[in-house]
Amino acid sequence: MDYFVNAFLKAATLGSTPSNKLLVLAKFLGNKYASPMDEEACKLLSLYVAFVRALYLLHQQNHWDSQDYGEHLLFQRLYEEASELVDDAAERVVGLCGELMLTGTETDIVKKFAPREKSIQSLLESSIALEQAFQQIAKKTYDSLKEKDMITLGLDDLIMAQASTGETHLYLLQQALKGL
Ligand SMILES: [Fe+2]
Repeated sequence: MDYFVNAFLKAATLGSTPSNKLLVLAKFLGNKYASPMDEEACKLLSLYVAFVRALYLLHQQNHWDSQDYGEHLLFQRLYEEASELVDDAAERVVGLCGELMLTGTETDIVKKFAPREKSIQSLLESSIALEQAFQQIAKKTYDSLKEKDMITLGLDDLIMAQASTGETHLYLLQQALKGL
């Protein structure tokens, strides 16, 4: 598994919380249901949300930095779709876990995957690398919850659908890179 993904997974498992800024908001939303999840599962799910949020942030930044109109529009489609994904994922995790943990991690992820320069090739490569990392996190989250017998039918469906959207995004980015 990719080095960066592993580092974030390790931090999540060890319980390091880079920032708790959004925790207050998450607590305000409250936990109305008894959670079927344990703490480790909730940390993993929160990391999953952080990665989807990072996808939204990075694709949007790349949209702003694109000089080429075609790529500008491609990144727009990706960040708009990612914004729906992150909203669905975050609300589901708050519903299941009562709060989002590891808030602020998305900023660290975006920094790790930020393009080295503003060339269109670099922008595409950075978005591709983060989409690939997201695929790994989605698989890891899915497999872990399944192993613990904590995956709900709805969560199963959500992660699979989001991974599928991510695969489409990856394909579109790779086609754009080939076309340069
Ligand atoms: Fe725009």
